[in-house]
Amino acid sequence: MSGKITIHPMLPGEAEAVSALEAACFPDPWSAHSLTDMLSNPHAHYLVAKKEGRIVGYIGTLTVLDEGDILRVAVDETERKQGIGTSLLSALFDETPDIKIWNLDVREHNVPAITLYRKFGFEPLAKRKAYYRHPTEDAVLMQRK
Ligand SMILES: CC(C)(COP(=O)(O)OP(=O)(O)OC[C@H]1O[C@@H](n2cnc3c(N)ncnc32)[C@H](O)[C@@H]1OP(=O)(O)O)[C@@H](O)C(=O)NCCC(=O)NCCS
Repeated sequence: MSGKITIHPMLPGEAEAVSALEAACFPDPWSAHSLTDMLSNPHAHYLVAKKEGRIVGYIGTLTVLDEGDILRVAVDETERKQGIGTSLLSALFDETPDIKIWNLDVREHNVPAITLYRKFGFEPLAKRKAYYRHPTEDAVLMQRK
């Protein structure tokens, strides 16, 4: 991988850059305002990956007691398949040792994301029919214990 990747908790001043990444990656992007709001939620845990000062990835989660939900993981299209998604999940699990169960929803045809999640022991639990829009697609609920 060229260029060192650093990972740290997301700061309010990074919300604009993360929302730009959101807009590039998802049909229903979170605004900078929603992201900033999220950062004041004590249950939210957001990490960003930076390369040469630029945000190249992020992960957003909510945790309650010993359970967590992964809401988003995204890596800049030009920086994928270099281990940044893996680094974000590793950092998340290192920083949240008290979370025993992790849940997430993923589009059933999202092979890169499903491959990443399986690498960390997530298993499919159930399907949610037509859960996603633009385009309509089933969600797979995955869980890691
Ligand atoms: C899913 C995503 C975050 C993965 O990030 P990444 O930095 O490319 O992931 P990594 O490089 O750490 O790869 C993780 C594993 O997935 C595999 N993988 C990554 N992209 C893949 C692809 N296009 N096809 C098949 N496998 C793929 C890698 O080979 C790797 O497995 P390995 O360690 O056995 O080689 C990235 O593709 C992305 O941002 N996608 C768009 C947003 C999205 O769909 N997010 C998830 C839903 S919230």
